[in-house]
Amino acid sequence: MWSVFKNALLLLAPLLPFNPDSQTAHLDKNATYRGPLADGGAWIDAFQRARAIVRNMTIEEKVNLTTAVLGPCQANSGGVPRLGIPGLCFNDGPAGPRYTDFVTQWPSAFTAAASFDRDLIEERAVRIGKEFRGKGINVELGPVTGGPLGRSPYAGRNWEAFTPDPYLSSTMSFLTVRGMQSSGLITCAKHYILYEQEPICTGPLDGEGGRTDCIDISSEVDDKTMKELYLPSFAETIRAGTGAIMCSYNRINGTPACQSNDAMNRLLKDELGFQGFVLSDFGATHSTVPSALNGMDMELPGEYFYGQRLLKAMRKGEIPQSRLDDMVHRILTPWFASKQYTDYPAINYQKYDLADKKEINGHVFRNEHVNNKGDNYLFARKVAAESTVLLKNSGVLPLKSIRRIGVFGTDADYPHTLSGCGPDLFCLVASDRRYWNGTVTIGGGSGAAYADYVAAPLEAITLRARQNGIRVDHVLHDDPAHFDAIGWVAYQSEVCLVFVSVFLVEGWDRQHLRLDKGGEELIKRVEGSCSGEVVVVLHTGGQVLIEDWINLPKIGAVLFAGYPGQETGNAIVDVLWGDVNPSAKLPFTMGKSATDWPTGNIVREMGQKSDPYPRAFFSEGLAIDYKWFDKWDIEPRYEFGFGLSYTTFEMSGFSIAENYQPVSDTIQPTNERYEGKADLYDVLYVARVNVTNTGKVAGAEVAQLYMTFPSSEVEQPPKHLRGYNKPYLEPGQTQTVDFPLRKKDLSVWDVEKQHWRIPKRIFTFCAGNSSRSLPLHLETQIRESALLVI
Ligand code: NOJ
Repeated sequence: MWSVFKNALLLLAPLLPFNPDSQTAHLDKNATYRGPLADGGAWIDAFQRARAIVRNMTIEEKVNLTTAVLGPCQANSGGVPRLGIPGLCFNDGPAGPRYTDFVTQWPSAFTAAASFDRDLIEERAVRIGKEFRGKGINVELGPVTGGPLGRSPYAGRNWEAFTPDPYLSSTMSFLTVRGMQSSGLITCAKHYILYEQEPICTGPLDGEGGRTDCIDISSEVDDKTMKELYLPSFAETIRAGTGAIMCSYNRINGTPACQSNDAMNRLLKDELGFQGFVLSDFGATHSTVPSALNGMDMELPGEYFYGQRLLKAMRKGEIPQSRLDDMVHRILTPWFASKQYTDYPAINYQKYDLADKKEINGHVFRNEHVNNKGDNYLFARKVAAESTVLLKNSGVLPLKSIRRIGVFGTDADYPHTLSGCGPDLFCLVASDRRYWNGTVTIGGGSGAAYADYVAAPLEAITLRARQNGIRVDHVLHDDPAHFDAIGWVAYQSEVCLVFVSVFLVEGWDRQHLRLDKGGEELIKRVEGSCSGEVVVVLHTGGQVLIEDWINLPKIGAVLFAGYPGQETGNAIVDVLWGDVNPSAKLPFTMGKSATDWPTGNIVREMGQKSDPYPRAFFSEGLAIDYKWFDKWDIEPRYEFGFGLSYTTFEMSGFSIAENYQPVSDTIQPTNERYEGKADLYDVLYVARVNVTNTGKVAGAEVAQLYMTFPSSEVEQPPKHLRGYNKPYLEPGQTQTVDFPLRKKDLSVWDVEKQHWRIPKRIFTFCAGNSSRSLPLHLETQIRESALLVI
């Protein structure tokens, strides 16, 4: 629905005022700069193969490759059969192949980020990548690696991305691209860039759950904030070798992202040395010539501005031949580099429905229901359990010798439909809210994947309880008509498990930070009547305010389970009974009040007539999420990095030392400019800490390293995450963990000199197990003298 709307908007695009100079506003005043031509970088062999083949293509064939239209997949680009070049299949998305069956619905990225576990994140990516490959998808439209990053808790799509912290997001983006592409799949990091809120929509719903009369936001950002906060995750996807990047719906300092010379040519292709192709989000193209000259290589999912229009522009000489060749080189180089020309599976599904075949405009597309999930359900369960954050625990968890459990909330129930509520799961927010859909396992829109089944919380709890001779009663309604029943069942239960949720969907930013369906009232009702303690499970795609109920006397435990995917119930059972000792940490900050965040950091008003685009001023600069709370000394409810365990840990022996290690994980180098000799990604120092399990059960702890820049760096927030490491420890066991610090981790972007530099004065480093629990400190000056050993 959303893309249908976006396409409709395109028809209006030529009518909107367009000022070519505005394309380079603020950040780049050189209107004639048209960006570097690809040279393949580390993919030199693949590039040469691409170049050789492009030499034999006609102009029509080249244009054909740059344009993708609806086919069996969400978009299919043209091929050149006579030269053995197939069209490519493009499909969402970050939580598993979207719009098809026999796939795993994985925990969302935002949920998995809470694991703070590098190995887990990479294996999740490898497994997702194989599922895409098995369906014959050439390019996954994902992962979401920093657009949105999570500037505002109100943004409706934060759950598709990892975390608002750029260091954590960067490491996870790198591992996810590397893992997904290891199967030969090409990833498309998205949405580039500064896509931190949804467009503003003022029209009625379109009847199918979509929005109407929408206008894109202009994200107004300064150079330093761009370089230090929003760009690093994308830089990491390039280092990891992503073949594609998707330009986003928003404008950047006034210019549409998909025709921004500054964003695509200057930053992405020159400074970050990107050798792959930039494709447009669906409906985010607004022009032919400016988009092509400013760096957009492919249009999806229709021939609105490329295709025939691109061909015409080429014939009129408005775009140099070298640029069209460059587009095609960029598209074919990752395809050769990924070796998809060898034995890549053919497309074996159709994205329209789950039936065996679909006829569209005389073409028959088939769904062969190919199942290549293997044992992914087990790993998805592990990811979900290891990403569940224990926020509060009086000792009621893990569940011990109880006999009677009460389960409450529609969120504990089966989804009432898995795929039948509209292809985007939009029916869940249909205007009359008739369709509230049971447990929330994933959000709606592009980030969703269908589940083949859902292990509903009530089902999983019942199965587990049966083994232990426990009685399970339930009321799976949240409405006032059932308040008496809720009270009665709670009164008869020794432990009351309440499941509440917030369902988020692409196209909608949040109006508030409360629970859906009166969840607060449900919790209070159960708490008022429960004979024992209450355990609250939060299935939300972001921050919620919990002050109404968190300190009520019978609230014994709270679990943040995010969007855990199809294995939701099994994963929560693992944590409730202690088969998995919780070890996850919040990858964002939970505030106490809506006023804890900067006011107006989501723009909700249309622009003025003279300036039709609503502008979001990123005036908080680098201070988003915990950095904002730290800067203004606001006490969070639960801070970034916080999470409890069933055991206890201590840290000691904190140290830092020079320890030069040349970068070894770069797949495609960037061209970022910096001071000094060492590569920006070389390790210069290593900090260390000892972690001891001081409790009675085995478990993992996330040791965290934070860094404070010297006070000379006045724009810097009080501290930055700069390392995390998660040892698994038996009771009494101690392990020393390392935090390697790369030159970039120790550098700031110097706006005047236009390069990265390490500040000269004293740095402070702190270690502990959350951003506000940092008992270990040390200070040191950072130098590049390690280079002497080179
Ligand atoms: C729009 C979304 O913004 C993008 O993430 C997605 O890949 C496309 N639609 C296709 O579904």
